[in-house]
Amino acid sequence: MEIIVAPTPESAASVAAQAVLAGLPAGKDPVLGLATGSSPLGLYAELAAAVADGRADFSAAKGFALDEYVGLPATHPESYRQVLVREVCEVIGLPVDGLNVPDGTGATLAELEAGAAAYDAAIAAAGGIDVQILGIGANGHVGFNEPASSLSSRTRVKRLAARTRRDNARFFASESEVPTHCITQGLGTVMDARRLVLIATGEAKANAVGAAVEGPLSASCPASILQWHANAIVVLDEAAAASL
Ligand code: GLP
Repeated sequence: MEIIVAPTPESAASVAAQAVLAGLPAGKDPVLGLATGSSPLGLYAELAAAVADGRADFSAAKGFALDEYVGLPATHPESYRQVLVREVCEVIGLPVDGLNVPDGTGATLAELEAGAAAYDAAIAAAGGIDVQILGIGANGHVGFNEPASSLSSRTRVKRLAARTRRDNARFFASESEVPTHCITQGLGTVMDARRLVLIATGEAKANAVGAAVEGPLSASCPASILQWHANAIVVLDEAAAASL
């Protein structure tokens, strides 16, 4: 795992974008793994700048979301499909029909589980993910793999931790409107990506970053699985690196 500490959130975004661009394959359309959340927004803006000056082209790229809420219609503005359309497709020019998001609209657990299995199959059919962009939750989660998630898990239905629902309540009218469940790429799915680029900024992430980078590899801190990846780059600003 390579750790890069940048002086500011802006420079962290720039370094992380360079790490993404350096991981894109030559001679084939890129397959990106896409995180939602505030952490990667600066990185996406840097990728947009790279597109604008001809250093990158995502017009034939495919994108695979890390996760999706269960129970929100795909048209809901806070569904991760809509968030990624707004914050990634429209920003970096990735075609909406190249965007894949787990289907959280199934009416039964069996339907949701079938959708989760189909999602892993779709990633494999696309040839795997070239670069997976990641944030980290304040409790060390990756995607929606909450503490105690299996380190080899595949895409599946999960219950959201109380803290995650609290953290994400800012996107909804009230905490009670935050869905209770999600479908998330598993940690095993994430680990299959050829390169991982995790960006974390701000002091609220310092403890989680410390556990992920310098703690034991443990399901108690799902992001610590990155220690096991041969091509994982963690980009931090000074505040997020404060406990290292
Ligand atoms: C969210 C997402 C994660 C994200 C994390 C941190 O709930 N499911 O993919 O990395 O929490 O979010 P933020 O970057 O807004 O702090």
